[in-house]
Amino acid sequence: MQHTVTLIEGDGVGKEVTSAVRRIIDATKVSINWELCQAGAEVFKKRLGSGVPRETIESISRNKVALKGPLETPIGYGEKSANVTLRKVFETYGNIRPACILPGIITRFPNVDLVVVRENVEDLYTGIEHMQTPEVAQCLKIITRPGCEKIIRLAFNYARSQGRRSIHCATKANIMKFTEGLFKKVFEEVAIDYPDITPHHILVDNCAHQLVMDPSQFEMIVTTNMNGDILSDLCSGLVGGLGVAPSANLGKEVALFEAVHGSAPDIAGKDMVNPTALILSSLMMLRHIGEFEAAELIEKGLYKTLGDGIMTRDMVGPSKYVGTRAFTDAVIQNLGKTPSQWVDKKSIPFMQPYVPSTNSSAVQKMIGVDIFLSGASNPHSLGHALENIAKSVGLTLHMIANRGIQVYPSHFEAPSMVDYWACRFIKGNNQALQDSEIMDLLRNIQAPYIWTHIEKLWFLDGNPGFSKAQGED
Ligand code: NAI
Repeated sequence: MQHTVTLIEGDGVGKEVTSAVRRIIDATKVSINWELCQAGAEVFKKRLGSGVPRETIESISRNKVALKGPLETPIGYGEKSANVTLRKVFETYGNIRPACILPGIITRFPNVDLVVVRENVEDLYTGIEHMQTPEVAQCLKIITRPGCEKIIRLAFNYARSQGRRSIHCATKANIMKFTEGLFKKVFEEVAIDYPDITPHHILVDNCAHQLVMDPSQFEMIVTTNMNGDILSDLCSGLVGGLGVAPSANLGKEVALFEAVHGSAPDIAGKDMVNPTALILSSLMMLRHIGEFEAAELIEKGLYKTLGDGIMTRDMVGPSKYVGTRAFTDAVIQNLGKTPSQWVDKKSIPFMQPYVPSTNSSAVQKMIGVDIFLSGASNPHSLGHALENIAKSVGLTLHMIANRGIQVYPSHFEAPSMVDYWACRFIKGNNQALQDSEIMDLLRNIQAPYIWTHIEKLWFLDGNPGFSKAQGED
């Protein structure tokens, strides 16, 4: 079958690694029509702020599959990375990062074979940041139920297709009960549909600790964007580093395969770059498009080459290494030769369509509001002023917090405070608060106080949808 794949060579070492992979795939005789497209530094230099031309977007939209080299965002040419543009345009919500020991590479542990499935578009990476005051910055952590369900189902489907029997969900739900807590909750709900796979929840800090103590206890880890960013790099380090770390970015329609590493400008054009990471990414791509035989030929060729001790400098050190081209030649020579260390991979594609959940609805009731403001020198004078304002509009000042700690009324000595106060007002007597009452409240908050934003306090199906401050009753 003839496939058309968008090929983005990218920057720095991109041309060397993509041409190595292209040579290897073409040598298997699998029929791929490579549609060469641009993105990255050259495009930015032509003053296209997104770093990705329309033709490239159209090519990926048409072909649904892309293999890409690393992309740079040159300093002084726009601030959005071309990688992020691609991720957003195609909503590649799933980042699959396998970490598997390869023959011949010396690592700390002999038996790592795990996959990190990282949510790729939500969390702190939605990029919603605001300065609240000259000394207080805020970044919103957005976690949605559909976003959680998509990535968690992807992880379970992937586990099933790969014959993996357990998944760890790594969160910080003990601290961020609503955001990370939602991820954990959805994981527990979705896990019921997959009785053949054992679900575990683990706190992400312990997960990092366990990974460097004994990575063999993990088969798969599914996690939120920020956690996944860190854990997946940690896992790359367990198996030999950036030169051998592949990835797939999966969306509903589009799959984009790339190495984890960047453009490595220090070795670009020197025949030194290790193409293994992109070769491994291309194996995922071939299996994704159903070319299982070609994938197996290449995987055997790669394992045989590495098992024979033929490696690039980053893998073996300065003693006995070969260049990128010689390494690629060796893989081509070894295509299909069974290496001594070989385990058959399953021939099932891993991308499954997202099954939307039934619409989740809840009875919502607004019981109060948090108003964030600056302009106060201490919590006591602010508290007294706000109590009067609250009373004048029929509300109660419940408490004031500073950096998440209740400081008014204060039960204990407050730590160092900044001029940024979260002031919680409630309606009381189990009554619902109206928007007009919030407006009245805001109108009454005047200089020297400056309100910066508000958060409504919702009860959802009778449960609070907001966190308490430390020390709050
Ligand atoms: P980098 O990954 O390019 O390089 C870090 C170090 O690892 C360098 O010493 C490099 O020589 C070495 N290295 C990386 N890949 C290697 C390989 N396959 N074989 C042998 N050695 C390898 O990270 P850096 O320097 O932080 O980023 C350089 C540029 O790449 C930046 O503009 C960055 O924004 C971009 N970048 C792009 C990514 C992408 O397109 N997915 C990912 C990471 C960075």
